[in-house]
Amino acid sequence: MEESKKIALVSGANRGIGEAVARALAAQGVHVLMGCRDLEKGRAATAPLVAAGLEAAAVQLDVTDASSVAALAEEIRARFGRLDILVNNAGVGLDFVPGLTPVEKMEQTLAINVTGGLRLTEAMVPLLAAAPHPRIVNVSSELASFGLRHDPDWEHADKILPTYAATKAAVNALTVSHAAALAEQGIKVNAICPGFTATEATGFVPDRTPDEAAVIVVQMALIGDDGPTGTFSNDAGPLPW
Ligand SMILES: NC(=O)c1ccc[n+]([C@@H]2O[C@H](COP(=O)([O-])OP(=O)(O)OC[C@H]3O[C@@H](n4cnc5c(N)ncnc54)[C@H](OP(=O)(O)O)[C@@H]3O)[C@@H](O)[C@H]2O)c1
Repeated sequence: MEESKKIALVSGANRGIGEAVARALAAQGVHVLMGCRDLEKGRAATAPLVAAGLEAAAVQLDVTDASSVAALAEEIRARFGRLDILVNNAGVGLDFVPGLTPVEKMEQTLAINVTGGLRLTEAMVPLLAAAPHPRIVNVSSELASFGLRHDPDWEHADKILPTYAATKAAVNALTVSHAAALAEQGIKVNAICPGFTATEATGFVPDRTPDEAAVIVVQMALIGDDGPTGTFSNDAGPLPW
């Protein structure tokens, strides 16, 4: 691997938007570590990228498992000594899952979307701080936007996912806090909404593809030093908090 190549870690990269982000970053010349709970699924996701000549490798990552996160941070430190890009993509929405109470849905969703993302960010900050232009992209959702929720003409006004939306609002809150707290270390932190996209999470209903959803993620992952921090946007521009 060339010394100058950027190193990116994408959580939840074995399928859906995470897989598309990994492919798009690799196509931009980034060496991508595809974080996957199940390493076999990760290797299967990596295979077509490697066959296409892209630099991608599967790494084991369960954001709810402190030892998995710590082991990955140590592996990245030992192999690369830094991390240029962290994409906090792993996430779930359990509002429509039968057999769980709202409290169980909230506890489980918080553990992955919020505590899990925070655990990964905290573990990677020392490695990001060692990179010349470090970036964190938090994959949020416009369903968390208070501003849009108060707009009766919003196209997603009919989508009521209370626990999912609450966790993504927490992701947004962490984004602005981390953007401020990590600014001195040069780490830019932005939240994005990838848009309503055909993945396992949505039952593959919408027309929007993961490749289309990945565009804004990659854009924020590769922003220059004159780029923003502490923002929330989609590919049409800034979103209301
Ligand atoms: N699709 C949309 O319309 C949409 C819209 C707005 C925001 N988003 C956000 O975009 C992100 C990706 O969603 P998606 O639609 O691509 O969903 P998806 O196809 O269901 O993929 C979710 C990914 O997260 C991983 N994951 C779940 N729990 C994890 C854990 N504890 N540790 C590590 N990885 C874990 C999954 O791994 P396994 O395969 O092992 O379960 C999978 O790789 C999520 O944060 C989602 O909230 C999606």
